[in-house]
Amino acid sequence: MSDMSSEVLDRSLVLDAVRVTEIAAIAAWKLVGRGDEKEADQAAVDAMRTALNDLDIDGEIVIGEGERDEAPMLYIGEKVGKGGKHKIDIALDPLEGTTLTAKAMANALAVMAWAPKGTMLNAPDTYMDKIACGPGYPAGVIDLDKSPADNVRALAAAKGVEPSDITVCVLDRPRHAEIIAGLREVGARVYLITDGDVAGVMNTADPETGVDLYVGSGGAPEGVLACAALKCVGGQFQGRLVFRNADERARAARVGITDLDRKYDLHEMVRADAIFAATGVTKGALLDGVTVKDGFVHTHTLVMNSATRTVREVRMKRPV
Ligand code: FBP
Repeated sequence: MSDMSSEVLDRSLVLDAVRVTEIAAIAAWKLVGRGDEKEADQAAVDAMRTALNDLDIDGEIVIGEGERDEAPMLYIGEKVGKGGKHKIDIALDPLEGTTLTAKAMANALAVMAWAPKGTMLNAPDTYMDKIACGPGYPAGVIDLDKSPADNVRALAAAKGVEPSDITVCVLDRPRHAEIIAGLREVGARVYLITDGDVAGVMNTADPETGVDLYVGSGGAPEGVLACAALKCVGGQFQGRLVFRNADERARAARVGITDLDRKYDLHEMVRADAIFAATGVTKGALLDGVTVKDGFVHTHTLVMNSATRTVREVRMKRPV
């Protein structure tokens, strides 16, 4: 439970969230393997926006497709829904893994998180340094300010294994060369992903994936979405925004961030109980992708409610 646990979203919103990510995933799936990242993203955005506007919610996008002047739809600050008693912050990524989708690679997702109004970090569209592990460890076992090797040693000690038994998920990017070298030097196994660090962080909370730790920089918006997911299943996360230029610092200022060096933990990024939903677009470690068989479209969705710690897998089928 959270520091603002009196603010709990109505349970009926769980199924609404599923419908929204399902619709976005199906729209994106039509573009799987077609080589056009933008078109796939646009299809998912259009579908998700239409689905949101059909709901009885008074929603505001806090993590979306960008700032108003660069994203005509689902921009930060856009109001969605038909109104009503459910006043919610919405973090979304209608297509997490545009390149994965365009190239028909694994692990593309349609993702969304809801929390009571004013309780999610309005992260700017910049990078964020991230570290995460799954549930069951003492608080503070990992720390963004420690070296990757020290984090592996600490996690291994807490787990009662050797550093060589620890698997660390990292985005495969040249900027992570030093991190990867440090991890390998301490003996850890490095599980490289080409894209999709929301799933990368979520892997740490799913023993089936074998991933113990996530480290590296990726999108700050994806950091908030990953925190909403971890909030539902437990785990630890720390993030710090990374600014490469004055424009990115200005983006932070526009969303009200004044302390540019702040290290955020999970419960500072998502300050109340949240609902998180992700539907697979392409098959991955966590979810099956969209498929069409015998005239029916099938989807696979993970939906979680941190207030009740409920985790559901929903399989949907309907005529194409
Ligand atoms: P998109 O779906 O917007 O392409 O993002 C995919 C992603 O891999 C995220 O999961 C990750 O946070 C970010 O891109 C990393 O950015 P970069 O590709 O610039 O390293």
